[in-house]
Amino acid sequence: MAVAATVGSLGAFLPRRCLRNPRCLSVKPPLSARIRASSSATASVEADPVALIPDAKVSTGINNLGCPVCYYPLISQSNASQTIESTAGSYVECHICKKAYFSNGTYLDLTVAGGSKEYTETMPGGTELFRSQLVSFLYERGWRQNFIWGGFPGPQREFEMAKVYLTPTIGGTIVDASCGSGLFSRLFAESGMYSLVVALDFSENMLLQCDEFIKQKGISKENLILVRADISRLPFVSSSIDAVHAGAALHCWPSPSTAVAEISRVLRPGGVFVATTFVLDTIPPAVPIFRAIREFFSRNSGQHLYLSEGELEDICRACGLIGFTCIRNGFFIMISATKPSKSSS
Ligand SMILES: C[S@@+](CC[C@H](N)C(=O)[O-])C[C@H]1O[C@@H](n2cnc3c(N)ncnc32)[C@H](O)[C@@H]1O
Repeated sequence: MAVAATVGSLGAFLPRRCLRNPRCLSVKPPLSARIRASSSATASVEADPVALIPDAKVSTGINNLGCPVCYYPLISQSNASQTIESTAGSYVECHICKKAYFSNGTYLDLTVAGGSKEYTETMPGGTELFRSQLVSFLYERGWRQNFIWGGFPGPQREFEMAKVYLTPTIGGTIVDASCGSGLFSRLFAESGMYSLVVALDFSENMLLQCDEFIKQKGISKENLILVRADISRLPFVSSSIDAVHAGAALHCWPSPSTAVAEISRVLRPGGVFVATTFVLDTIPPAVPIFRAIREFFSRNSGQHLYLSEGELEDICRACGLIGFTCIRNGFFIMISATKPSKSSS
C-alpha cells in the first residue's frame, strides 16, 4: 500500500518513449521514476526450423514448442483436440532426435533431464529455493506481497506497465518465463491479448500452484499451457515467440546472460522482452574492490547478486537485443528490449 501511495497512478511508471504515444499523453512521469532509453547493436536472425521441415505436422497450441536438446519442432502424438499438458501420459516428440517429452496431467516437462531414470538435476540456490513445496505454497500467500518494500508496485500495476511495452506483440504467443504460481500468466490469459500464453517454470511445485490457482479462479486453459523448462534451455523453436515476460525472476536465474541469450534466440524479429527484477547500484560496479567482492561471492555461492541497471543493459546488448529501456522505483526495475527486425539490422 505504501508503494501505491508513493508512485501514484500507472502514469508514474510510463516509459518516456510512450509519452509520444497520443494514448499516453494524459499521464506525467514522476520525479521518482528514472527512465532511460538507448538503442544499439544488431543481431542476426536465424532461419526458422519449421520452414526447413516442409511437412512438419504440429498441432494447434504447441506449434512453437521446440526440443530443448536440438531446438527442432515438437510433434504431438496424442489427441490434438486437447491442450497437450492436460492429459497425464500424453507426450510430444522431437521431429529430429525423436526424444519424447511427457505430461503429468498438470504440465508438460520440457527440461533436458525430464524423464531421466537415474539423474536428477540440481540447480544453484536461486532455482532450488523455489522448488520447495513450502516456498511455492507461501509464494502468492504473502512472500510476493513483500516485494513492495523493494519498490515493486504490485502485480496488477506491473502488468499494466508491461502491457505498454508489449503492445507490438498483441495477438501472438507470450511466454511468462519463470511464472512461479502464475500471477502474470493468469492476467495474460484473462486479458485475451494473446493467442497463446505459455506459463513456464523450472519448479514442479510452482507449476502445481499455478495450476491450482488457474482452477480456483476458473480461468480457461484454452489458450494457456503449463510447461516445465530451464530458462537457460528454452523449449521453443528459434525466432518463434512474440513476447517473453519474466516477473521478479532474473535475479534467481543461474546465468542471467545465458537466459537472456535464450530469450533472444526464441524471440521473433520485432519480439519484445520485458522483465522486472531487483536492481543494486548502491555498490557501484565500476569500483574495482566491490566488483571483486561480488565476483568472489558469485563464484563461491553459484548465485548472482542483484545486477545494476548498466549491467542489465549490457546483457541485453550482448545478447543482440536493442532499444533497452527501463523504469525504476527504489530497488525495483522493469526493463524492456526488442529483437531487431530485419529492417533494423
Ligand atoms: C521470485 S519467483 C517469480 C515468480 C513470478 N514471475 C512473479 O512475478 O512473482 C522466481 C521464479 O523463477 C523460477 N526460476 C528460478 N530459476 C529458474 C530456471 N533456471 N528456469 C526457470 N525458472 C526458474 C523459480 O522457480 C520461481 O518460480
